[in-house]
Amino acid sequence: MNQNTNSRRTALRSSMVGGLRAADAGHAHQLTGWVHRRRDLGGLLFVDLRDRSGLIQASFGPDWTESDSMERAHRLGAEDVVRLEGEVALRPEDARNPELATGEVEFRVTRMELLNRAETPAIPVHRGPEDELPAEELRLRHRHLDLRRNELQENLLLRHRLVLAVRNYFDGLGFVEVETPILTKPTPEGARDYLVPSRVHPGEFYALPQSPQIYKQILMTAGFDRYLQIARCFRDEDLRADRQPEFTQIDLEAAFVGVEDILGWIEGLMVEMTAVAGIEASPPFHRLTWRDAMRRYGSDRPDLRWELEITDWTELLRTADSALLQGAVDSGGKIRGFRLPGGASLSRREVEGIEAAAKAAGAPGLLWAKRAGVGEGGSGPLSRWLGEAHWAGMGAMEGDLFLVAAGPDRMTSPALSAVRTAAIEALEIPRVRDHAWLWVMDFPLLEEEDGVVWANHHPFVLPHPEDVGRLDEDPLSVRGLAYDLVYNGSELGSGSLRIHDPGLQRKVLRILGLEDAEVDRKFGFLIEALASGAPPHGGIALGMDRIVKDFLGAKSLRDVVAFPKTTAARALFEQAPSTVPEKDLADLHLSVVRRQEN
Ligand code: AMO
Repeated sequence: MNQNTNSRRTALRSSMVGGLRAADAGHAHQLTGWVHRRRDLGGLLFVDLRDRSGLIQASFGPDWTESDSMERAHRLGAEDVVRLEGEVALRPEDARNPELATGEVEFRVTRMELLNRAETPAIPVHRGPEDELPAEELRLRHRHLDLRRNELQENLLLRHRLVLAVRNYFDGLGFVEVETPILTKPTPEGARDYLVPSRVHPGEFYALPQSPQIYKQILMTAGFDRYLQIARCFRDEDLRADRQPEFTQIDLEAAFVGVEDILGWIEGLMVEMTAVAGIEASPPFHRLTWRDAMRRYGSDRPDLRWELEITDWTELLRTADSALLQGAVDSGGKIRGFRLPGGASLSRREVEGIEAAAKAAGAPGLLWAKRAGVGEGGSGPLSRWLGEAHWAGMGAMEGDLFLVAAGPDRMTSPALSAVRTAAIEALEIPRVRDHAWLWVMDFPLLEEEDGVVWANHHPFVLPHPEDVGRLDEDPLSVRGLAYDLVYNGSELGSGSLRIHDPGLQRKVLRILGLEDAEVDRKFGFLIEALASGAPPHGGIALGMDRIVKDFLGAKSLRDVVAFPKTTAARALFEQAPSTVPEKDLADLHLSVVRRQEN
């Protein structure tokens, strides 16, 4: 760990262990920590002493260790907490351990004090290859022991340093950190709310904030000009590796700004944060409109470490002799897909694996064809409909694999995005860059399915000035001044300019199906603030947990959160959620209705 460990003197110790080196040989120290491992070699005894800074080998021997310390050392167990007095000594040449930062030295113990015994640990404090870790559920159940693991401590230390960089950066730009309430009203970010019953107001509930969105806008109307918060957010939604029910946002908002102000600040922030994490970010970041991202990659967060792009073959393949393809086009769909040079080498099973990815993303199936050679046709379900003109139009070369989906964009885009990822993996396509930064811009303001309209980001996004005139007659065609930050295919952040005109805000909420009375009930306080002289404003929120995870290349947010929840939204260590006594429920004016299990 690169914090200065030698300035960690306390009442019980003179130094931490991880920074001790050959230059310290001959110096007396008092060290504290946990017994990582004990090796008894008859007369000699070695203990690996561990603290947050690292590990050092402590040696006990009858020539230099007091006899009762020596005797007690024989009974030390894993994770006992000890204090050792002694001297740093150079290890003999042949006993040096280049794998260990302190491997040139050992600590010759003169006296040992047992500060606390440990029961036999339920899981070992692991050091070594990740694939030898105990099962994750077991580690989450014994999180206090897993958190002693070096990797998790490093992850949380990086997180700490990143948060520090964020605060310093925004302080330098004149942002003011303001805490907003945790007991609040529902905030519409598209997930379910966690509700907290009010004891003093029977039948009434607070909601935990899905984000501080409305409060930060109100701070702008209050004249704060630049707001920042490292904010806890709560969302009751289906969990995945990149989602936790409670998570942290780097949340900001500023008044009198344009889109470029926000993007510029965030690019500067990423330069600062990546420098801390030792990865690369060189602004200006690449930009794509949402429309282009969907057209070229089928996703609003494409991973641009790979260049593979979707081709639209609608015009070419509508002439193919296929009722399926023609039917898809006649009902307004497209025929799109990928040409994969060399892809014909994939086995049938591998192609079926890619098709399974398309199906999991909502496509009924995937059409594929392998090209044999010029004039020789090809193989695969799609090939039987293709004439030489089609092959030529698709730029087919010998050994190509074509993966094609036909239908409405809404169905084929997610499917082709999944196909892109699966094909890249199956063909081991090399990446063109290691760090792909991207802004996706101009998201649609609204989305619709089966007559239900909802806000793409949230209902406060400012409509694009070129489109705002179409809000009445064609609201679904209106773009919002909204932008997402994407890193290696992961959505790190999301923001927009906001509506500051109360009339326009009411109108958008009305399009979203809210009656005026409902608007007043749910968002009256925001509308009131907007009507009190609101400056034009905008902002963004970045997912802090995701940033740490992606910068570390970790698999799950659980590796960068001290006490995470499982994908079943449970805290295994402290056992939450849990039932509460009937009396507590009664105080809250609640009763639990238990459904009969089948
Ligand atoms: P949004 O809902 O897109 O925007 O959230 C912003 C960022 O927060 C992160 N994030 C999450 N991280 C972990 N677990 C989750 N469940 C989770 N949900 C979201 C993502 C995401 O990009 N108020 C707006 C921002 C704004 O308009 O200023 C908002 O909350 O990285």
